[in-house]
Amino acid sequence: MGKKHWTLDDIDWGAFDPAKVDPEIVRIAKAASLVEHNGYDYATYLCNVFHDDPDFQETARHWAEEEVQHGAVLRRWAEHADPDWDFDAAFKRFTDGFRLDLKTAESVRGSRTGELIARCIVETGTSSYYAALGDATDEPVLKQICKNIAADELRHYKLFYTAMKRYQAVENLGRWGRLRTGLGRILESEDDELAYAYYAANEPGVVPYDRRRYSRAYARRAYGLYRPRHVERGVAMALKAIGLKGNGRVHRVLWPLASRLMRARAASLARTGA
Ligand SMILES: [Fe+2]
Ligand SMILES: [Fe+2]
Repeated sequence: MGKKHWTLDDIDWGAFDPAKVDPEIVRIAKAASLVEHNGYDYATYLCNVFHDDPDFQETARHWAEEEVQHGAVLRRWAEHADPDWDFDAAFKRFTDGFRLDLKTAESVRGSRTGELIARCIVETGTSSYYAALGDATDEPVLKQICKNIAADELRHYKLFYTAMKRYQAVENLGRWGRLRTGLGRILESEDDELAYAYYAANEPGVVPYDRRRYSRAYARRAYGLYRPRHVERGVAMALKAIGLKGNGRVHRVLWPLASRLMRARAASLARTGA
């Protein structure tokens, strides 16, 4: 990997159109900016886990720079949309309440292959998420930002996938292990990090954190963005990461089901006012 593929200066900020800003999208864009800004912490963790693989460490550091840039560009967009938003205060709230274990020398996934599968799942999630967000918004600058970020996330997926194949050849993690790791990471997608980021980004003042409430609030807004094509692609990428065919029978059965479940969940959360 070399230099970044784009910078904040490549964004046409002059095209920003306040009339096309959806306040619900502003809320999730703020949350995303906090999570992405935390990328360096994750690179530290990856460098610990891959302590004897300098090439991968280099890749991880560069990857983190791109993630942090995602945070920076989303922050600037959110500040255009809501000039009163205090990013620094929100980021402090987020990092005070949510911390990765940076001291560990072993992957929380039990193996390096597992760690890389989990990374592939995360990049699957982010690439489809930004593709969905970019298609859902009418605001031209956010559209452009999401297009750039989604392309980065897809490259990140490929990068972790390539590294995963390399480690899989040595570690030979069994099919069950891969499946368990992949599913485990998918099920974590409603875990504390996103819910807490949503809270930290949008609840200044003294409101206490309520995990259930904020994970539902986040999920309602995020799931509602997805169209079938985003789910179809995401399911294919996730299947490939766990060692199954991305275009086979499992995919044909699974993606429409996943798509319906996400829609139903978004609708039921909306009904309860999450
Ligand atoms: Fe990102
Ligand atoms: Fe990424």
